[in-house]
Amino acid sequence: MPQFHTPPISPMAISFDAEALTLSPEGPTLTRRMSDLEGLFLDADAWAAASAGENPVVYTVVSSPVPEVDRELPQSITTIMPGDTSGELWMTKGHQHPNHQGEIYLALKGRGGLLMFDGERTEWLDMLPGTIGYIPPGWAHRSVNTGDEPYAFLAVYPGGAGHDYGWVLEHGMGARAYRASEGVDLRAYSATPSAG
Ligand SMILES: [Fe+2]
Repeated sequence: MPQFHTPPISPMAISFDAEALTLSPEGPTLTRRMSDLEGLFLDADAWAAASAGENPVVYTVVSSPVPEVDRELPQSITTIMPGDTSGELWMTKGHQHPNHQGEIYLALKGRGGLLMFDGERTEWLDMLPGTIGYIPPGWAHRSVNTGDEPYAFLAVYPGGAGHDYGWVLEHGMGARAYRASEGVDLRAYSATPSAG
């Protein structure tokens, strides 16, 4: 299995294929199935049924070999499958950077959105191939597939920023994104009731 390189890292070319959605050379790949997304969808019963059933892959993250280490600049391609859970569009877990630092997402394929929340304000960016979404320091961020095919984007972020997924469970994301006949239906955030 491909691993991250260990600093000091030599200068290198990393080719990315925006069609095949691969990075070469490649680092580790992360796969998030429905069962990994506990507490995120509003309809907890529908989430539990999907997790206990087919437990589909919701998204994958392929990394370059550049590690998540302070001063390094890692890159990854995230691919979110199309789908919804009781109308709520499939999405990433979302996270805050404990060490507040900026990040860019470059949309590669499909249609998506970038939901950001700073604890008070909510922002939504439509993401189409060629769009760079800028995430300022201190804004939690989540990506959503709003289309009918996989939505993929390249992320470039400071290696020392860290990932706090619990922040989203505690504070929410300010809004939830639902499937609509055109575009996306953004609804005010409401907490997920506990399953059962
Ligand atoms: Fe991030």
